Amino acid sequence: MNLVQRKLLMGGLVAAFAAQTALVYLDDTASTFETLTEEAVRGRRLWHEHNCQSCHQIHGFGGFLGPDLTNAAQRLTDERLEEVLTVGAAQMPAFHLDEDERLDIALFLDELSFMGIGVPRRNKPLNPTAVRSAVDQRLAELAAGDTSLSEAVTRGAHAFRMNCSACHVPLQATPLGLQTAPDLTTVLARIDEKAVHTTIAAGRPDRGMQAWAHLGEQAVDDLVAFVVWLNEDRKALAEKVGGVGAEQPLPWWEYK
Ligand code: HEC
Ligand code: HEC
Repeated sequence: MNLVQRKLLMGGLVAAFAAQTALVYLDDTASTFETLTEEAVRGRRLWHEHNCQSCHQIHGFGGFLGPDLTNAAQRLTDERLEEVLTVGAAQMPAFHLDEDERLDIALFLDELSFMGIGVPRRNKPLNPTAVRSAVDQRLAELAAGDTSLSEAVTRGAHAFRMNCSACHVPLQATPLGLQTAPDLTTVLARIDEKAVHTTIAAGRPDRGMQAWAHLGEQAVDDLVAFVVWLNEDRKALAEKVGGVGAEQPLPWWEYK
């Protein structure tokens, strides 16, 4: 390599470094996230002052005596929050926080919940194609046998394949950016059949699921029937794909 070539190479490296530095400083990813409000910042300070993290995780980081609170805002009622932050619960000590402090913590948890989902990915992900063919096989088996597989379920399975399977894979949750499309084979343990109907018809637009009422009342009923069937047939379905729940050899802090 002669001197001119070396100079050119050096110049190229310096230019690449300058370009990358410029790109890094121009990147505004951070500013696309909302920052915490003043109240939530106070809530976070209380969180640190009282060392809540020693027992609770946020996105999997923290102690394990209490539950992960990343998305606690979605399940907590005002009464429950008031109770735990005043008199405590189980092994959670009484902090006797006053109303303002409780509100700040509530807002902190609320805003935290919108920043991502803290779901530990404990199980080995299944292959979606294998799951889909397992569903087809189960339906075919039941249709061939002398069982009471209703036509609504078969029609619902078809509608599901057309409209829902891009996001929902039976037997497992699908991470979609900040949202998670839940495993629908267990949905009836969380919400009842009526709520399943409402969720399908009206969607949850602010949580990443569109409304499906435009498919027509009959199609929504069929989808509900299929979802109910998924819950009933979960065990047999799981056997077909070699079982769910195989623990993944991942360190516990590996979150989606
Ligand atoms: C010594 C450990 C410990 C500390 C410190 C602690 N917690 Fe807890 N917390 C727990 C336990 C254990 C539970 C579960 C109680 C139960 O099951 O009823 C809990 C429950 C909760 C819940 C209810 C969760 C739910 O899903 O129902 C909230 C909210 C909560 N804690 C917030 C806090 C906040 C905020 C702090 C700090 C001010 C804090 N905790 C400090 C142990 C602790
Ligand atoms: C674009 C992705 C997407 C598609 C397509 C989609 N969903 Fe969803 N669905 C989601 C997400 C995300 C959630 C979770 C919303 C939340 O966190 O509250 C959800 C939630 C649900 C729930 C409630 C689950 C629970 O545990 O509360 C049901 C039932 C459901 N979807 C059924 C369907 C059906 C039936 C279809 C097809 C007609 C469908 N979804 C299509 C993304 C999708």
